[in-house]
Amino acid sequence: MKVRAAVLEAFGEPLVVQDVELAEPRSGEVLVRLVACGVCHTDLYTASGADPTGYAPCVLGHEGAGVVERVGDAVSLVRPGDHVITLFAPECGVCVHCRSDRTNRCIAIRDQQGLGHLPDGTTRLSRNGEPLRHFMGTSTFAEYTVMPEIALAKVNPEAPLDGCAPFACGLSTGIGAALYTAKVEPGSTCVVFGCGLVGLGAVIGARLGGAARIVAIDLSEERLAQARHHGATETRVAADDTVHWIKDETEGFGADYTFEATGSVAVMRQAVEAAREAWGLATMCGVAGKGETLEIVPRLLITGRRVAGSSFGGVKGRSQVPGLVDRWLAGEIDVDALISHRLPLEHVQRGFELMEEQNGIRSVISFG
Ligand SMILES: NC(=O)c1ccc[n+]([C@@H]2O[C@H](COP(=O)([O-])OP(=O)(O)OC[C@H]3O[C@@H](n4cnc5c(N)ncnc54)[C@H](O)[C@@H]3O)[C@@H](O)[C@H]2O)c1
Ligand SMILES: [Zn+2]
Ligand SMILES: [Zn+2]
Repeated sequence: MKVRAAVLEAFGEPLVVQDVELAEPRSGEVLVRLVACGVCHTDLYTASGADPTGYAPCVLGHEGAGVVERVGDAVSLVRPGDHVITLFAPECGVCVHCRSDRTNRCIAIRDQQGLGHLPDGTTRLSRNGEPLRHFMGTSTFAEYTVMPEIALAKVNPEAPLDGCAPFACGLSTGIGAALYTAKVEPGSTCVVFGCGLVGLGAVIGARLGGAARIVAIDLSEERLAQARHHGATETRVAADDTVHWIKDETEGFGADYTFEATGSVAVMRQAVEAAREAWGLATMCGVAGKGETLEIVPRLLITGRRVAGSSFGGVKGRSQVPGLVDRWLAGEIDVDALISHRLPLEHVQRGFELMEEQNGIRSVISFG
């Protein structure tokens, strides 16, 4: 079938929205009709050419939500009509990592996904008879996509699908960092560095985890106001003395949990230094630039601080994303406040511009 899709033709060039060919789903695969797709930093990171693992041409997009249209052979996890959230981090349920409750790092289809292929080593996307590569196993800047069934989370059909899109990446990443990676304890003190979608997600996750104090740090007053809306109990504009200030506010000790959601290694270092002596846990969510490293004075670790990294918030996609969506429906998460712009696919490039201008929290593409 012919579908409209936003193609990354060359790094550093605007995406080109065009008709591409999408083949029918094969064994274990599913055809999804996209209803909404968030525009995330990772799409821009790859489009810019900064991502060392990026390739072009390909169809970008990974924050998708839609409806199952058709299924290939041997598909048992979803059926036509199901509402689904796309997962760049799949959950096969049987690999060594899926069987552990310590991680969401499913390895079932990783190698082919990294090459831009579906698990059988081929693509369903093509142009003029030439294969066109998938992106993050999702390629959701398109009216339809074909994905493995293990990379779809079936969610409550009452959840509006445009609000489901942020759960496919940024929002679940932040919430999960607090709930599943750090496992925030009730009554604790949390500090969140950076209040974009990921950091606001961490604020929300800290609140859901029962934190008593949630301190949000950002350069922008507007974003700090957002953080208060989602549950921050204190906010502060980032400055050179941020770590010192956090220590002062915590009787000299530092915070039980810190979260970094900026992508800056200087801020990652602050997150480690602001974590409490004895048991403080610093969780890194941001994606640093190519070749950058995080400097830590080892004494900070000997004296009990710990550092963790969190990909997709440690959320096991198929088993845990549906529960997060249910918490939204139960009124515990205000997703509407996080969606600032709705754009047609034709204006996907505007979504990147809005992100660079820090205009709003999340732009979501709505498919007509
Ligand atoms: N781990 C994952 O699976 C995953 C998933 C999605 C995004 N990310 C990454 O998470 C990071 C955050 O994503 P986002 O969409 O929320 O980004 P964003 O750009 O919307 O938000 C970043 C925020 O950090 C603030 N900031 C910048 N410098 C700061 C400083 N010195 N101190 C405090 N705040 C500062 C900015 O003002 C901004 O509000 C990015 O690096 C992104 O690539 C990771
Ligand atoms: Zn993303
Ligand atoms: Zn697995």
